[in-house]
Amino acid sequence: MSEAIAAPVEAPLRTAHKRRYLMCVPSHFTVSYSINPWMEPSRPTDTARALAQWQTLYDAYRDLGHEVELIDPLPGFPDMVYTANGGFVVDGIAYGPSFRYVERQGEAPAFIDWFRANGFETVVPEEVNEGEGDFLLAGDVILAGTGFRSTGDSHAEVARVFGREVVSLDLVDPRFYHLDTALSVLDPVEDATTGPANIAYLPGAFDERSRAILAERFPDAIRVSDEDGAVFGLNSASDGYNVFISPRAKGFEAQLRERGYNPVLVDLSELLLGGGGIKCCTLELRGAK
Ligand code: ARG
Repeated sequence: MSEAIAAPVEAPLRTAHKRRYLMCVPSHFTVSYSINPWMEPSRPTDTARALAQWQTLYDAYRDLGHEVELIDPLPGFPDMVYTANGGFVVDGIAYGPSFRYVERQGEAPAFIDWFRANGFETVVPEEVNEGEGDFLLAGDVILAGTGFRSTGDSHAEVARVFGREVVSLDLVDPRFYHLDTALSVLDPVEDATTGPANIAYLPGAFDERSRAILAERFPDAIRVSDEDGAVFGLNSASDGYNVFISPRAKGFEAQLRERGYNPVLVDLSELLLGGGGIKCCTLELRGAK
């Protein structure tokens, strides 16, 4: 009798979808105040290094065929490089930001002006929200984070603005203060070959109710280890095949490969001093143009 050989698990064939992103050159990057546990104003920052690392992300997107738009950096706003917080854009509608902390509030008009000037139907928000930092589109559904920055009322506002289902998730660990630090959408577009949008997430960043929702809605999700979460492994962008992640998230990298994704490693260690990573520096522009 021949010995049983475990059949290799076939990873699905993934396809890259062209994306359009908004980024901001970190010309004024530094850490001069602290609004999250990663930021220590007494620790020196290296703006030239931040610029060089940011450039590798910009180049990686462009080399893989994505389009990148730029918004002008404003002096005095060192966090403007984290464009994910500048809005949430779906179907050509741009929902503007209303920042939680005064240090970033001056960024909001700049983002709103940029959306208007670039042909987006622009909605000025009434509720405190930090854009794609806390709102992620997974297939048809909007996953929305709260607990530290965006309010629960902003979730209701987003549901009205986009006419889509919004699933509220509670963040409980201050290190993971935006949804995009704890959860990553891997297949942003419903893809007939790979099925519904899948996600990766850090279970420990959510309360029990939210963990139960995620387990039920995304039974095939990649659950990332605390170790990979702690190096901002989940703060990543995906085009459905290429997943742009931190080189420090070794376990997540292997999990992605097993599933047929192509991890693209981009080190933004300098920008992590401000509490941000790859996804924070990337705002997806969906529709318009
Ligand atoms: N220093 C910024 C802040 O605390 C970092 C923002 C990171 N952005 C993100 N999408 N997670 O607001």
